[in-house]
Amino acid sequence: MAKYNGVIFDLDGVITDTARYHYLAWKKLADELGIYFDEAINERLKGVSRIESLEIILEKSDKKYSDEEKKYLANKKNEYYKEMIKNITPNDLLVGVEAFIQELKMRNIKTAIASVSKNAFTVIDNLGIRDKFDYIVDANEIKNGKPDPEIFLNAAKNIGVPPEKCIGIEDSGAGITAIKRAGMFAVGVGNPETVKEADLVLKDLSNADEILKLL
Ligand code: BG6
Ligand code: MG
Repeated sequence: MAKYNGVIFDLDGVITDTARYHYLAWKKLADELGIYFDEAINERLKGVSRIESLEIILEKSDKKYSDEEKKYLANKKNEYYKEMIKNITPNDLLVGVEAFIQELKMRNIKTAIASVSKNAFTVIDNLGIRDKFDYIVDANEIKNGKPDPEIFLNAAKNIGVPPEKCIGIEDSGAGITAIKRAGMFAVGVGNPETVKEADLVLKDLSNADEILKLL
């Protein structure tokens, strides 16, 4: 019997480079507010919700913001982000992703996307990949964001594969923790320091053969 029957992908930073756009949109907002923000701080934002990301950015501010102001700022960042993802096309799939998904399909491995982004379906449709996955979690139905395992457990349930038979792929520290807590095998891509708790660390999915070997 196959060791793994399901592969669950994060979206931003795994399937496409939207992690970059999230960073650029936050950077624009932080610069406007005169708050220090850099790529090292940004690593902590990966995988966490919009409002939690804002809270991390505001740690560097002396000013206290009201809930109303925070809502306004988070929305402003989202407007910058939405403008950036408008021009995404199928050419923006990260290297190796398409071939890997095709190979999984050939091997009858179930696939899902587990993204906490409220913009996930826009990105997925601009990439033209909605029908390539057996299930895509709707972030609106998830109560607890990563590092809580809820989103990965929800994906596993909906593809009908027990968690211990699933592999999760993430570029964020919070996401790797979520996968491990879900009892799945964790593959980390991107910044090796950020995903160092993963069971397998790859530069990107051009090395997906390393995952196929595990199946
Ligand atoms: C995750 C990103 O996929 O989505 C985070 O890694 C982001 O950086 C989160 O904050 C929420 O995204 P959105 O589109 O709902 O603001
Ligand atoms: Mg990500």
